[in-house]
Amino acid sequence: MAKTEVKTSLLDNMIGVGDMVLLEPLSEETFIDNLKKRFDHSEIYTYIGSVLISVNPYRPLPIYSPEKVEEYRNRNFYELSPHIYALSDEVYRSLRDQDKDQCILITGESGAGKTEASKLVMSYIAAVCGKGAEVNQVKEQLLQSNPVLEAFGNAKTVRNDNSSRFGKYMDIEFNFKGDPLGGVISNYLLEKSRVVKQPRGERNFHVFYQLLSGASEELLNKLKLKRDVSRYNYLSLDSAKVNGMDDAANFRTVRNAMQIVGFPDHEAESILEVVATVLKLGNIEFKPDSRVNGLDESKIKDKNELKEICELTGIDQPVLERAFSFRTVEAKQEKVSTTLNVAQAYYARDALAKNLYSRLFSWLVNRINESIKAQTKVRKKVMGVLDIYGFEIFEDNSFEQFIINYCNEKLQQIFIELTLKEEQEEYIQEDIEWTHINYFNNTIICDLIENNTNGILAMLDEECLRPGIVSDETFLEKLNQVCATHQHFESRMSKCSRFLNDTSLPHSCFRIQHYAGKVLYQVEGFVDKNNDLLYRDLSQAMWKASQALIKSLFPEGNPAKINLKRPPTAGSQFKASVATLMKNLQDKNPNYIRCIKPNDKKAAHIFNETLVCHQVRYLGLLENVRVRRAGYAFRQVYEPCLERYKMLCKQTWPHWKGPARSGVEALFSELEIPVEEYSFGKSKIFIRNPRTLFKLEDLRKQRVEDLATLIQKIYRGWKCRTHFLLMRKSQIMIAAWYRRYAQQKWYQKTKSSALVIQSYIRGWKARQILRELKHQKRCEEAVTTIAAYWHGTQARRELSRLKEEARKKHAIAVIWAYWLGSKARRELRRLKEEARRKHAVAVIWAYWLGLKARRELRRLKEEARRKHAVAVIWAYWLGLKVRREYRKFFRSYAGKKIYEFIIQRIMQNYFLEMKNKMPSVSPIDKNWPSRPYLFLDSTHKELKRIFHLWRCKKYRDQFTDQQKLIYEEKLEASELFKDKKALYPSSVGQPFQGPYLEINENPKYKKLKDAIEEKIIIAEVVNKINRANGKSTSRIFLLTNNNLLLADQKSGQIKSEVPLVDVTKVSMSSQNDGFFAIHLKEGSEAASKGDFLFSSDHLIEMATKLYRTTLSQTNQKLNIEISDEFLVQFRKDKVCVKFIQGSQNNGSVPMCKRKNNRLLEVAVP
Ligand SMILES: Nc1ncnc2c1ncn2[C@@H]1O[C@H](COP(=O)(O)OP(=O)(O)O)[C@@H](O)[C@H]1O
Ligand SMILES: [Mg+2]
Repeated sequence: MAKTEVKTSLLDNMIGVGDMVLLEPLSEETFIDNLKKRFDHSEIYTYIGSVLISVNPYRPLPIYSPEKVEEYRNRNFYELSPHIYALSDEVYRSLRDQDKDQCILITGESGAGKTEASKLVMSYIAAVCGKGAEVNQVKEQLLQSNPVLEAFGNAKTVRNDNSSRFGKYMDIEFNFKGDPLGGVISNYLLEKSRVVKQPRGERNFHVFYQLLSGASEELLNKLKLKRDVSRYNYLSLDSAKVNGMDDAANFRTVRNAMQIVGFPDHEAESILEVVATVLKLGNIEFKPDSRVNGLDESKIKDKNELKEICELTGIDQPVLERAFSFRTVEAKQEKVSTTLNVAQAYYARDALAKNLYSRLFSWLVNRINESIKAQTKVRKKVMGVLDIYGFEIFEDNSFEQFIINYCNEKLQQIFIELTLKEEQEEYIQEDIEWTHINYFNNTIICDLIENNTNGILAMLDEECLRPGIVSDETFLEKLNQVCATHQHFESRMSKCSRFLNDTSLPHSCFRIQHYAGKVLYQVEGFVDKNNDLLYRDLSQAMWKASQALIKSLFPEGNPAKINLKRPPTAGSQFKASVATLMKNLQDKNPNYIRCIKPNDKKAAHIFNETLVCHQVRYLGLLENVRVRRAGYAFRQVYEPCLERYKMLCKQTWPHWKGPARSGVEALFSELEIPVEEYSFGKSKIFIRNPRTLFKLEDLRKQRVEDLATLIQKIYRGWKCRTHFLLMRKSQIMIAAWYRRYAQQKWYQKTKSSALVIQSYIRGWKARQILRELKHQKRCEEAVTTIAAYWHGTQARRELSRLKEEARKKHAIAVIWAYWLGSKARRELRRLKEEARRKHAVAVIWAYWLGLKARRELRRLKEEARRKHAVAVIWAYWLGLKVRREYRKFFRSYAGKKIYEFIIQRIMQNYFLEMKNKMPSVSPIDKNWPSRPYLFLDSTHKELKRIFHLWRCKKYRDQFTDQQKLIYEEKLEASELFKDKKALYPSSVGQPFQGPYLEINENPKYKKLKDAIEEKIIIAEVVNKINRANGKSTSRIFLLTNNNLLLADQKSGQIKSEVPLVDVTKVSMSSQNDGFFAIHLKEGSEAASKGDFLFSSDHLIEMATKLYRTTLSQTNQKLNIEISDEFLVQFRKDKVCVKFIQGSQNNGSVPMCKRKNNRLLEVAVP
C-alpha cells in the first residue's frame, strides 16, 4: 500500500547526486563537495553503484523508523534515495530469491559507524524476514547477542565511546523461505592488553564498570566487590563515567539479554565471578624479599585480596601464592624452578588477568553460538556481516595496531578483487564490451606482512622461537636486514640509506606504508605479545580451581595433559583466522558499506574536509567510481527504465504492448540519443555518460510538466461539464417533484368534498328508515303487553285455587305424624329400662369373681415363700458341714491341685478325643480335627505337623529304588518347567517311561540295537522338522549315557550321532506345544549340519532326561531356554523360530511353516 504513495526516487529531489557515478565532472574536490552537501542536508548515505558510503552523523536521525522500513521493503535498489535499508533489502532479496550466499563487509576507521551499521542491517533483516513465534525467538536471540558481546568486547576509546575492541563476523542462516534459522559468530583478536592498562582518556571494557554500578548489594557482596571504581587498579579513573552512557541501566540490559540468549542464572553468575576475579587480580601487589642466597624474590604485600580471590575461585591459597612467586620450566623430563622478582611477578599477574579475560570472551562467543545455532539440518542460505576494527593510526602504535591494520589491508585486497570481478562479470553477463582498468593493488603490502618466508609475521615467529637471548631489538634488527629493500618498509637502521637522516623515524621503530597511509610501529612489546606467555605454574593453579568455568578455561593446566610444545603464537593464530575469513568471504556475493568519519570530535554537523579526503583517498573510493564509470555510468533493468521514460515517446505513451527492451529501443531512437552513448545488454540498458541520463531526466521533467497541464485542462473541462449536467438534472427533478405535489393537493380536496356530500345523503336516508322501524316496533310492543296482562289474570286465579287444595292436604299429614311419633317414644322408653336392668347383674358377677381370684393368689405366694426358705436353710447347713471338714486341706494345696487336676482332665479328654478323630494316613489328606481349646493352639499345630511328617515317612518307606528314581525325575521336571511352560501340567500325570520303543524286542531294529553298546535312556519316535519347508519326518530319537542318536524309523539306520558334550542348549516355547530345538556347539563335527528342531509328545520327559544325563555325564548344567522366539543355526544361516497364536482350524496340532529365509513360524492353537 505504501508502495503507491511514496515517490522519493534516487533521482527525485536529489541533493547533489545520490550516486557518485553520476558526478560530473568527477574529481576529488567534487566528490568531497557532494558528500559534504549531502551531509549538510542530513543525507548521510551515498552510492557508488552498489557500494554504500555512510558518513557518521553523530546524532540520531529520523530515518530508521518502522515506516522507513516499510518504504524500502521490496523496492528496487535505485528506486528510492540511498539508504542502508535499500542495501539490506537488496542483499536479503538476492539471498532469498536468487539463492546466493551473501556477505556485507563494513569497513572504516574506528568510530566511523561500522558497528551501528551492522546493527541497522540486522534490525532491518529482522523486521522484514518471516514472522511467527519460533522465528521471532531466533531473531530475538540473534539481536540480543549484541549487548552481551558489546559489554565484554567494547570500551570507550578516544575515538569512539563504544569502540569494538574485537573483530566480529556473524553468519546469519536462513531457510529457503528466508526465515532466519540461527547464526554463527566468529571473533577476532580481542585487544586484551586493555584489561590491565588503558591509554589516557580511555576505559577498560564496559562490563567492569557496569558490574560495579549496576549489580545489587547482594551480588557485590557475593563477588566480594565494593561499589567503588577507585579501589581497583585495573580501572582507569579519569574517564570512569562516559557521557550519555548509563552503566547501571546497561548492566540490567546485559543481564536481560543473557537470559534471552539462553544463559541460566548460575552460568551468568559464574561469568561475573570471573570478571570479579580479574578485577581483584589487579589489586595484588608485590614487594621485594631477599633471601640468603642473594636471589631476588618477591612477596605478596597484602594477602587479603589473594584470600578473597581463592575463595571466589576455590583455589588453595598456598597453590596460587606459590604460582605467583615461582616459575617452573620443564624440558625433557627435567623440572627447574626459579623464583620471580617483583617485575616478573607483576608480569605474571597481568598475563594471568589478560588470559583469563580473553579466554572468558572466547568462551562467551562459543556459548552464544551454541544458543543461536540453527536447530535444523536443512540446507541453509547464509548472510555474513563483518564488523571488524577499522584502520588505526595512533601516536603509539604497537603489535595490536599492526595486526588490526594487517586485517584491514586484507579486506581492502578482497574489496579490490571482488569489485573488479563483479563489474567485469556483469558486462560479460550482459554481453557488453569491456576494457580493463588499472588501479593500485595492495597485494605487495599484504605480502610484506604475511609472506611465509620473509614476511614480518614469519620473522617475528622465527625470532620468538629462536634459542638464545631474544628481544624486541633483535627482532627489529632482523627486519632491518630482511625487509630493507621493500618499497613499503621504512626503518632508520635498515641497510637502505634513504632513511638514515629521517628524524621522524625513531630508532626503535619501523614504518609501513599501508594502503591507508604510513604507520609508525613501536617495536617494544612485539615479541612478548606475540609469545603471549602465561607461566605454566599459573595455568596449573587455575586448573585446580573448583569454580568449573575457570577450570575449563585452562585445560593446559591439567598435569595429565602436559604439552611441551609451544602454543601457536598470537600472530600466526591471527593470520590463520584471517585466511579462513577471506576464504569464507570469497565464496559469497560481497556487498560493501564504506563508513566515513566526518570529524575527530565525535560531534554532529562538523564535516572536516581534510579528514574525509584522507579516508576517501585511502579507501580508493574515487577509483571505485572510475571503475564503475569506465564502462557505463548507469544501468537499469528495461522494465523500470521504460516505465520512467515512456512519456517521452509517442509509441510508448501511454502503453507499450511489446517487450520492454524494444520499447526502450524505440524510445531511445525517437529521442535521437547518439548510439555510442548507450548499449543494450541482455536485461539492462547501459548508459555511458551521466549527462545522457540527466538529459533524459530533464526531458522527463519537461514532459511531466506538459502532461500535468494537459491533465489539468482535461480535468477542468470535465469538472465544468459534470457541474452543468448535475444542475440540469437537479432542475428537472425539482419541477417533477413540485407537479406531483400540486396534483396530490387538488385530488385530496375533491375527494374530501365528495365524502361530505355522500355522508349527508346517507344520514338523511338512515334517519327515515329509523323512524319507520321505531313505529313498527311500538305497535308490536302494545300487542305483547295486552296478551301478558290477560295471561297474568288467568294464572293468578289458578294459583289461589291450588294453594287452597294444598293447605288442606298438609293438615292431614301433620296429624298422622304426631300420632306415629308418640307411639315410637313410648316403645323407646320401655327398651331403655330393660337394658339398664341386665347390665347391673353382669357388673356384680364380675366383681365377685375378681375378689375370689385375688384371695387365691395371695395364698399361693405365701406357700412358695415358705418352701424356698426351707431349701436355703438346708443348703446353707450342708455347705457349713463340708467347709468344716475340708477347711484344713484347702488352706495349702487346694488351688494348685484343683488346677492341675482340671488341666490333666482336659488333656486326657483332648488326647482321647483326638485318638477317635484321627484322619487317614494318606500324605495328601488335608483333614485335621479342629482344636477344642484356645490354649492348645500351638500343641495342636505341632501335633498336626508331627503326624504329617510321620505319615510322609511311612509313605516314603514303601518306595522301591525304581520308584524313587521316577520321582526324582518328576521333581527335576517340576523345577525346570513348572510355571514356565504351558505344556508342563499335562505331563505331571504321565509316567516317564524312557524307552517307549522296544528296540531290544523288535527284530526290525536288530542292527540298531547291535550298534549301540550303552544303556538306552530314551528311545522314542519324534518328528524332525525339515529346515527347508517346516514339514516333518519321523525319526527314532535315542539318548544314551554319552550320546544322542537319530535313526531312520523304518530301517533303523543311524542318521546322526551327537556326543552330549556338543549339546549346548535346548530351546522351546512357553506354550502348549512339543517343539524343541537342540543347539550344538559351534565348530563341533555334529554342528556342521546345524541345530535340530523336533517335535515330540514327550517333550517334558525328554528335556528332563537330557538335562539329567548331561549333568551326570559332563557335570554341566544344560541351558534350557524357554522363549517364544529363538534363533536356530541351520547350516550357515540363523533362522528365527517364532511361536504365534494359531487358529483352531487345524485341530489342536501346532503348525510349522517356513515364512522366509530368516523366519520359521509355529502356530500353536
Ligand atoms: N547511523 C548513525 N546514526 C546516528 N549515530 C551514529 C550512526 N552511526 C554511528 N553513530 C554514532 O557514532 C558512534 C560510533 O559508531 P560505531 O558504530 O561504534 O563505530 P565503529 O564501530 O566504526 O567504531 C556511535 O556510538 C553513535 O553514537
Ligand atoms: Mg565498532
